[in-house]
Formats: sequence, C-alpha cells, structure tokens
Amino acid sequence: MSKPRIYITRKIPDKLLEPYKLQYDFRMWGKEDEAVPRDVLKKEVKQADGLLCVLTEQIDEDLLQEAPYLKVAANMAVGYDNIDVNAAKKYGVIITNTPDVLTETTADLGFSLLLVTARRMIEANQYIKKDQWKNWSPYLLAGSDVHHKTIGITGMGRIGKAIARRAKGFGMSVMYYNRSRKPEAEDELQAVYTDFDTLLAEADFVVSVLPLTAETKHIFNAEQFQKMKNSAIFINISRGGVVNEADLAEAVRTKQIKGAGLDVFEKEPVAADHPFMQLEEIVCMPHIGSASEETRSGMLNLCLENIHGVFTGRGPKTPVEAGRL
Ligand code: DGY
Repeated sequence: MSKPRIYITRKIPDKLLEPYKLQYDFRMWGKEDEAVPRDVLKKEVKQADGLLCVLTEQIDEDLLQEAPYLKVAANMAVGYDNIDVNAAKKYGVIITNTPDVLTETTADLGFSLLLVTARRMIEANQYIKKDQWKNWSPYLLAGSDVHHKTIGITGMGRIGKAIARRAKGFGMSVMYYNRSRKPEAEDELQAVYTDFDTLLAEADFVVSVLPLTAETKHIFNAEQFQKMKNSAIFINISRGGVVNEADLAEAVRTKQIKGAGLDVFEKEPVAADHPFMQLEEIVCMPHIGSASEETRSGMLNLCLENIHGVFTGRGPKTPVEAGRL
C-alpha cells in the first residue's frame, strides 16, 4: 500500500518530519519567505491525502473540490478563519488547529505590545538610533502608565485569560467582554464581566482577542472608537478583520483615542503606504504573536500529530470544534 501523501505549504525544518518519514510521503513548498501560489496549491491538493497549511492559505470550497483524497487539513494557527469549515464538513475533510501550545507566547507578545505602545518604546528606540537624543527633559517621550490602570479584554478565551494574569501582576483591574461568562476568570483573576459598550467606555486599554467571524467583522469601527476614552490605547492580537482600519487610523489621527498596538492586519503583509505607517502612535508588528522558536516548533509538531492521529485512526488531538482563541 502506498504511503499517504502530505503536502506542506511552507518550508519547515526537516528534523520535525524525521519521526514520520517512514509512514508518509511528504511534499513541501520549498521557498522560505514566499507563500505557495494558489495554482501550485491547487495542483498539489489533487494528489494529497493530508495538508499542513498556514493562515494565509484560503482553504475554501474552490480548493476542496479539487482534492478528492484529502482527509485532513492541519492549520498551523489557533484561528481558522482562513478555512471554510462547512465546506470541509461537506467534503469530509477534518480540520485541526493549534490551541494551547501558543497561549502563553501570544499573551507575552500581547502584553508586551501594550507596554511598548503605552510607553512609546519603539519611538524611543528610533529617537536614539536616528541620533536625535541631544538632551534629557522632563517630558521627553513621556507615555501612559500601565500599572493600576484598567484593561478591557474582548474575547476571554485561553489567550485572553493569560493576558489577564499578566495584567494582575501589574496591579491592573481587569474587565472583560465575551459571548459567555467565564466564572473561572472571575474567581481566579477578579475579572469583571461587562457589556461591550461599558468596556469601551471604561477601559484604559482595550485588547482584542476576538476570533474573526461574521459577527466580529469590523466590530471595532468609528462608532466604537468614539465610545473609548481619549487616553485609551487599543491593542489587537487576534485578526485584522475585526477592525475597520480606516476608522482606527482616523480615530488616532483626530486624537479620539491615544494610540494602538497591532500585531494583525486586514490584509497581510501590510502595504508600505498603509495609513498606519504615517502614525507614530500606532505600533505595528508583522503577526508575530506566537513567534518564539519553541512555540512555532510546538505548533508544527501538533499539526503533524493531528495528521498522524487521523491516519492511524486514533483521531486528531485538536480538531477545530474544540479550539477557540
Ligand atoms: C494564530 O495561531 O491564530 C496566530 O494568529 C498565528 O500564530
């Protein structure tokens, strides 16, 4: 019997594949920094039994109908808005994601982004490197305090809770908005459940950890930014699509809010002429929430374990039904 063929849409370290090589026929897109072109992916899925894909690939009906043998698509991300889960169900393809392994790493980045934005650390670094530091003065690069302020977390899943734990260490009050209440977060972290509007009005830092769905698309728009304090800072580490980016740029430009720290964008990579690039009060990161070497390897290993689980009949460890941010 021939080995199941697994197509991997990015170059990944060979050592991760080593334990599975006897059992699978791996094929991989070979270019380090370039996404697999759609026509190549379409050709590859025709013969593939399994797919290890990343968040920039659209796994939709158009692709799935070209993949007669495909049994599993293992997405190297906890979010899976790039996948049409209903179409996958229709074609009998199991979808898996990578929850848990990235929670703490992503929360580290989220909380760092909050600190870096509030305390203007990117500007400060540039200030020295551009040789502009000629003097010390009382309000030189003065930012906003973080300690003992109020953080408003929208989306109290695993990552939301991990951010709340970090916030508690800074003496912050935690409020949260979520589809359902999280009693464990309320007990352990004294997180206060509020409606969306109250959170926007009262939080000093509004953090989005919301997954991108039909309900959350552009949930942060001009109307919501108007409800926020003029001193508020908005942080987004979930998906760019939850924000109307033109409205956010305008809210910062007109000082409706003080600033924003963003790890995710509606269209990635972000174009150099994007309005955010002109605004010093907006700190941008290239979607690196889970990007530590340990965690990225952990995510890839989990994808491989999920694929292996499907072909051995044991079942995947983390099918998407179980996985939320
Ligand atoms: C995710 O897992 O959804 C991140 O955005 C990528 O690490």
